[in-house]
Amino acid sequence: MEVTFTQAKELIRQGKVVAIPTETVYGLAASLNHPEAIEDIYRLKGRPTDNPLIIHVHNVDQIAPFCKELPPLFHELAARFWPGPLSLVIPIKEGTIAPNARAGLPSAAFRIPSHPIARELIRQTTPLVMPSANLSGRPSATQAAHLCDDFGPSLPYLDGGVCDKGVESTILIYRDSSWKLGRLGAIPIPVIENVLGYPLKQIDDAKPLCPGQHYRHYSPKAVLKMTKKIPQTTDGVIIGFSDRIYPMRAIHLGHSTNGEEAAHHLYAALRQLDTENIAEAWVDGDFPTTGLWETVYERLLRACLKPHSIQGH
Ligand code: TXA
Ligand code: MG
Repeated sequence: MEVTFTQAKELIRQGKVVAIPTETVYGLAASLNHPEAIEDIYRLKGRPTDNPLIIHVHNVDQIAPFCKELPPLFHELAARFWPGPLSLVIPIKEGTIAPNARAGLPSAAFRIPSHPIARELIRQTTPLVMPSANLSGRPSATQAAHLCDDFGPSLPYLDGGVCDKGVESTILIYRDSSWKLGRLGAIPIPVIENVLGYPLKQIDDAKPLCPGQHYRHYSPKAVLKMTKKIPQTTDGVIIGFSDRIYPMRAIHLGHSTNGEEAAHHLYAALRQLDTENIAEAWVDGDFPTTGLWETVYERLLRACLKPHSIQGH
């Protein structure tokens, strides 16, 4: 159910969940001050309770009171990327953040979104706890129609059109005296390394730093097969690029040299397979590996995985 900004504000203040646009993907928002609403987010999404949420704030000054201390280079990262698609995971002071927002972890993820509606809503209410607004495991929602597909007509939402970036924020985690990569996202790694002045490493241990990375993700119902050798058949459907000719019907991600465009269209393309009840599809895997393509590739790889091949779900 579409609501106005004023209605969304009232609902958030009353402890209800509202889907709202951000510059990355739509988020399922609840006030940080309403733990029962945060509980509702997990229930609505079918999200495992060990997977913490991101806390969206209006300005940098709102973060310090939650934290033991702000890690080195925090201010440099904040100045360069906020408002925008970066989430920073920082150790917090005990008792400052509802345990269910952070899945009981001693740290929390923070982000200042740049979307004007999200930002203004936070300014006029409280910090908003907000995961991506999709059923757990499904591709994120990048337009209002996707919200209705996943949650039905009764979920209140603010319509902000199509999300600009189309993929989620990049997540950095401060641990063991340096920033580590928690999740690839809308800001490419080299751009972040320029600010850090050191290489961004992903810790690949048994207990992932970013619990969400543990689960099946971004997946349509269709079985996807990524390949660089396009099968010479007219049957079926391929997710591919507008500047290429395929023997079968294609759903386009944009031009094969434009990673931003591919990210922008990615989830709508994956969701279109479900809308059309397609059981199997190809993905053209012949694209660059630099910049945002790295994120696009990672999301497509996960979308291609079979449910049983992911641990913990
Ligand atoms: O762009 C985005 O980040 C979107 C929009 C709505 O802001 N949000 C989003 O939230 O993608 P979600 O819940 O789908 O993904 C949050 C990720 C999960 O993988 C979670 O494990 C990780 O953030 N995370 C949150 N708090 C964490 C913490 N304390 N330590 C490690 N990872 C954390
Ligand atoms: Mg998500």
